[in-house]
Amino acid sequence: MPRNESLELDLVALLERRQTRRGFKKPIDDEKLGEFFWLSCRSRSSHSSPFGPDQESRVHPSAGALHPIHVLVSRSAGPWMRYDPVEHALIELPGSTNSAAAGRNAANRIFNLNQGVLLGLVAEPGKTEAKYDNHETLVWRDAGVLLGYMSLIAEALHLDFCPLGITGQTHLTDFLPEASRLQAAGLAVLGAD
Ligand SMILES: Cc1cc2nc3c(=O)[nH]c(=O)nc-3n(C[C@H](O)[C@H](O)[C@H](O)COP(=O)(O)O)c2cc1C
Repeated sequence: MPRNESLELDLVALLERRQTRRGFKKPIDDEKLGEFFWLSCRSRSSHSSPFGPDQESRVHPSAGALHPIHVLVSRSAGPWMRYDPVEHALIELPGSTNSAAAGRNAANRIFNLNQGVLLGLVAEPGKTEAKYDNHETLVWRDAGVLLGYMSLIAEALHLDFCPLGITGQTHLTDFLPEASRLQAAGLAVLGAD
């Protein structure tokens, strides 16, 4: 569901209260998860570009407007789901159930995920490489920008959110065909309290 109604908030107060929250005591419902993705990740518009990949406008900036970071979601069981920022939908990734479980196990070794959902950032470096020679660090900075926006949106929606230091390598990509040239770029946990 699109989130079109306004969300009144005091930005200064939001910035003051934001902190990493690791409770994840309650499951996050579909509506809240949809709001989170709508506000942090959706594509507002796109146009074809001379570089190959489309350039997009999203809520957060991206080097060359190429938005190389895909976001995957793992709930307590089942395969990785990919958030489609154009369709605003979650798409199942076939054959990824074991990888998602392994990703959750790896994250659980850092702290207890409880009812939290695991978010996986997967970079498509080829998008940024289409425009920039030295694209490697740009992709990592794009991932950092996205995590920052996610942390603020989570706080605004009264959700718990914590980035993880591990990248999610190999669990975010090992089920994909080798030719896809995607790379794990970080994990985070999202949940309700
Ligand atoms: C890239 C990145 C990786 C992080 N990795 C972890 C982690 O593995 N485990 C964890 O508990 N917190 C992790 N955090 C959260 C930080 O510990 C937290 O942001 C920091 O302690 C400051 O606290 P605050 O966010 O409440 O201001 C990470 C944060 C970032 C930005």
